[in-house]
Amino acid sequence: PIINYVTHDGNQFEADVDVGKTVMEGATENMIDGILAECGGACSCATCHCYVDEKWGQITGTADGIEKEMLEVVNEPKETSRLSCQMTVTDEMDGLVVHLPESQY
Ligand code: FES
Repeated sequence: PIINYVTHDGNQFEADVDVGKTVMEGATENMIDGILAECGGACSCATCHCYVDEKWGQITGTADGIEKEMLEVVNEPKETSRLSCQMTVTDEMDGLVVHLPESQY
């Protein structure tokens, strides 16, 4: 599936990410800046924060549990905030658009 990462200044990067990988891995493995992922996907750093494009919220679902708690500490949380390491890519996500925050701190 193709995942589109849009930086805060409007640049768009496209990555073909395997099903089963996370949206975070899709960014880090393709050298897309804006996702730091300091904890490596353990849901404990919140430096993989992104905003799911409004059209895609139904497909990706919403944060709950620990992810939801972690989202309380991110810079500029929004309704559409997610931790990208907690979104596993599925075939339905082909074309997904996520927006990257200006800063992870
Ligand atoms: Fe650390 Fe997602 S990579 S919370």
